[in-house]
Amino acid sequence: MKIIATALSVLLVAATPFAAQATPDDDLKAFRAYFTNKFPNVPQNDFINGVYALDAASREQWEEFEEFPSYEIAVDNGEGKFHTAFANGKSYADCFPNYKQGIKQNYPYFDTDKGKVVTLEGAINKCRTDNGEKKLKWKKGEITEISAYLASLSRGQIINIKVPNDAKAIAAYNRGKKHFWSKRGQLNMACADCHYYYSGSKIRADILSTGFGQASGFPVYRNKWAGMGTIQRRYAGCNKQVRAKPFKAQSDEYNALEYYHTYMSNGLEINGPSQRK
Ligand code: HEC
Repeated sequence: MKIIATALSVLLVAATPFAAQATPDDDLKAFRAYFTNKFPNVPQNDFINGVYALDAASREQWEEFEEFPSYEIAVDNGEGKFHTAFANGKSYADCFPNYKQGIKQNYPYFDTDKGKVVTLEGAINKCRTDNGEKKLKWKKGEITEISAYLASLSRGQIINIKVPNDAKAIAAYNRGKKHFWSKRGQLNMACADCHYYYSGSKIRADILSTGFGQASGFPVYRNKWAGMGTIQRRYAGCNKQVRAKPFKAQSDEYNALEYYHTYMSNGLEINGPSQRK
């Protein structure tokens, strides 16, 4: 009897998404399978389109937006700025030599020398400070123009986040995972409550998108913002929805979350920038 109970509890641990010993790859397989089983009619790569993959009426509206997308100006501005020389004569192109092939699908990555997660926005600002320029604001404005341009060059590329076999990298991944699955705020809800368990359900006027694929479309032009925003701008908004205090953009906490959250979209295409309501 005792043996059976132990065997059962082992099984239970293995079945919960937050099993401590699972590798990132195990996590991804379980995460993906959950959504593909839950939404058998959604073609796998369509999960990159957030709620528009789940709801036909919202999708119709969105397809109209996408005919003349509001992010196009950001992409054009970003292209111009990307190729404009800094005061020292260098430009972003010097920092991102492979930009033409698309680089967004590899961000965030873990820099094992520095022991930290590097987001695309982090790399953009590092490029600036390395070249004697001031940092841009993190969540909106010019930084999203540069990242919108870079995302546009990565469209159709496959998200390919790696967690190297390095204690700090694994710790960062697990920190992000913990954020995603932990309840927080006065409403005591986790990202996973809304974007895993209740994905596809309605919350007030919104249908909840799936955590699988969410990282694909950023930066986004959001009608509600009347402008562009990074994925971390959205994290802050979602933390506030449950009345939790948001973390700072590019804090270790959000970078870890972005690392885990983007890993959970590995294998899907980049579709940034996108438009959202
Ligand atoms: C109380 C429910 C709730 C919680 C908890 C929540 N969100 Fe959201 N989130 C929403 C709603 C509503 C939207 C808008 C509809 C949609 O796209 O899902 C949204 C949208 C998003 C989007 C944009 C998706 C897209 O396709 O543009 C991302 C990314 C996101 N949430 C991430 C998170 C993360 C990460 C957490 C945890 C820090 C979180 N959310 C917690 C309700 C929630």
